[in-house]
Amino acid sequence: MASEKRRILTTSALPYANGPIHLGHLVEYIQTDIWVRFQRQQGHECYYVCADDAHGTAIMLRAEADGVTPEALIERIGLEHRADFEDFHVLFDNYYTTHSPENRFFAEYIYQQLEAKGHISRRIIKQAFDPEKEIFLPDRFIKGECPRCGTADQYGDNCESCGATYAPTDLKNPVSAISGVTPVERESEHYFFRLADFEEMLRDWTHGGGLQPEVRNKLKEWFDAGLQDWDISRDAPYFGFEIPGHEGKYFYVWLDAPIGYMASFQNLCDARGLNFDEFWRPGSAAELYHFIGKDILYFHALFWPAMLHGAGFRTPDAIFAHGFLTVNGQKMSKSRGTFITARTYLDHLDPEYLRYYLAAKLNHRVEDLDLNFDDFVLRVNADLVGKLVNIASRCAGFIHKRFAGTLSSGVCDQGLYDDFLAVRPVVTECYENREYSRAMREIMALADRANQFIADHKPWEIAKQEGRDQELQEICSLGLNLFRVLITYLSPVLPVTAGRVEDFLRCTVSAAGSWDALDSPLRDHQISKFKHLVQRIEKDRIDAMIDMSKDAEDEPTPPAEPIAETINFDDFARVDLRIARITAAQRVEGADKLLQLTLDLGGDTRNVFAGIKSAYSPEQLVGRLTVMVANLAPRKMRFGVSEGMVLAAGPGGEELWLLSPDNGARPGMRVN
Ligand code: 2FM
Ligand code: ZN
Repeated sequence: MASEKRRILTTSALPYANGPIHLGHLVEYIQTDIWVRFQRQQGHECYYVCADDAHGTAIMLRAEADGVTPEALIERIGLEHRADFEDFHVLFDNYYTTHSPENRFFAEYIYQQLEAKGHISRRIIKQAFDPEKEIFLPDRFIKGECPRCGTADQYGDNCESCGATYAPTDLKNPVSAISGVTPVERESEHYFFRLADFEEMLRDWTHGGGLQPEVRNKLKEWFDAGLQDWDISRDAPYFGFEIPGHEGKYFYVWLDAPIGYMASFQNLCDARGLNFDEFWRPGSAAELYHFIGKDILYFHALFWPAMLHGAGFRTPDAIFAHGFLTVNGQKMSKSRGTFITARTYLDHLDPEYLRYYLAAKLNHRVEDLDLNFDDFVLRVNADLVGKLVNIASRCAGFIHKRFAGTLSSGVCDQGLYDDFLAVRPVVTECYENREYSRAMREIMALADRANQFIADHKPWEIAKQEGRDQELQEICSLGLNLFRVLITYLSPVLPVTAGRVEDFLRCTVSAAGSWDALDSPLRDHQISKFKHLVQRIEKDRIDAMIDMSKDAEDEPTPPAEPIAETINFDDFARVDLRIARITAAQRVEGADKLLQLTLDLGGDTRNVFAGIKSAYSPEQLVGRLTVMVANLAPRKMRFGVSEGMVLAAGPGGEELWLLSPDNGARPGMRVN
């Protein structure tokens, strides 16, 4: 099994220092942590660094609203983040902050290199400015009426109601979300990174083999659309690093965020005496991987390699992008109690349940994954308690009571043990390629075989018969040896349970070399008393966690809308409301908010584009009844013609509830 020792540097995206870690974040940190633990167990030199992303307007304003300095805010949040990660057993070699001297050094260095080589240009741009706060307004800080549908209180980049995307200057009656005053346009000089200078280099890098096919396709789209200059400066007031020699101009938070990977690693090098250049200079023999969410691909797959290359550093070997987490099939939502913070989860449940459940769902594709709580309870209880721990608990007692805790010298079914070892290269490859769900399936299939072996040999019956001691000892010893193989394979996912098993079996299952050590089963080996390893999940813990997450304090209060002008009955009757069955639902390529619905009106079929994607997945909708406006004039939209409208309540975003009739209603029935 011995393979060449690799040197690997791994990162996860840097969470913003203005909010708590939640379950959506944890997908990535758990995914990365499993991979890193696996690499270390294979004997590789693998480092895992991260940091808080501490700069930008949002953090500056949040600190102001809290009445503290940005430094105090990021310090406090940094401590919370560290505690959350530690309690989820996410084991960084270094967790730092982008507001650090190392990061300032690298940001300035990279910028100066790019500028010296002519990759920075400057020009004057017009931007929305809040005359009261005297601050330029990022798009997310401007609100107004949607230029397409007129819905009030929409952000400066897209409409939550109709899905339109636009520039903040297109909003009707715009106001600053900070002060409420009308923004004015103001000019200012900005600095741009000339991304197009790197097109050839980026195309080569894209074809280097490290990228997922979905990522390569996305890059191709971006190349086809043409690479644009990237605005990397922001005007004071801004919480970040001032651009050297340019008073009042700051590096945009996204310029110094990925540089935070380097800074965190430099800080680690200083603490441990490692050589930074061996990991970051061109020609480095070390490998460099960034785990990220699909939403920040543009930054990592275009800007970041281009910046590194332009400043004389090596480029990453790969970017590993993952999809988003949905909970019970929907976007996480505060009102449903499914926006669950790391801390609330930890207050109710064991972190290893989530580590295992996510591992059982994660693969190497850029797909969203769903945390369904019913499935979560079933899966964890069935696999970890029912299958895995059961093997040990059925065998350990006999070894203790009858053989003073000593395993047999003989292996009664070497063929079975060898079958377990034969899966080792498969599991290894799955971890290496981030195919964790397949690894978990392979391991649980082995757990089934181990349980079958015990069920076939019935040690509890043999134990009652005279003269069969050796047989009893060998069966139970093999059961425990099979258990050792399984827990070794699972140890990147379940580090704490693995630690408990190490105490129980008195051998390592998670240290470097443990996988190779499986070649020799434990013989004539003393073990400790079996202690409880994994507890069943009780459903009421989940309910309590969801209740706790419904904390009203965090809940956005929907705007109280005044009742509209009175209409007469005839006006009402002119609107033809009908029961409709959703017979098909699908996402619309290129539309952030829309789902395309096929509605059956009892014979008549309608195609409707509904702005409900943020609240429902297509799978949840197919087959259900709802209410629609059937006589609305067809409307031509960018994606096709919409022939009606379904009725939903709520302020928008994930806070939307589709209307449905009571049992008995049938498609086509008139509602009014
Ligand atoms: O999207 C985010 O949450 C960013 N804070 C991620 C930064 S990753 C890296 F570039 F620093
Ligand atoms: Zn709109």
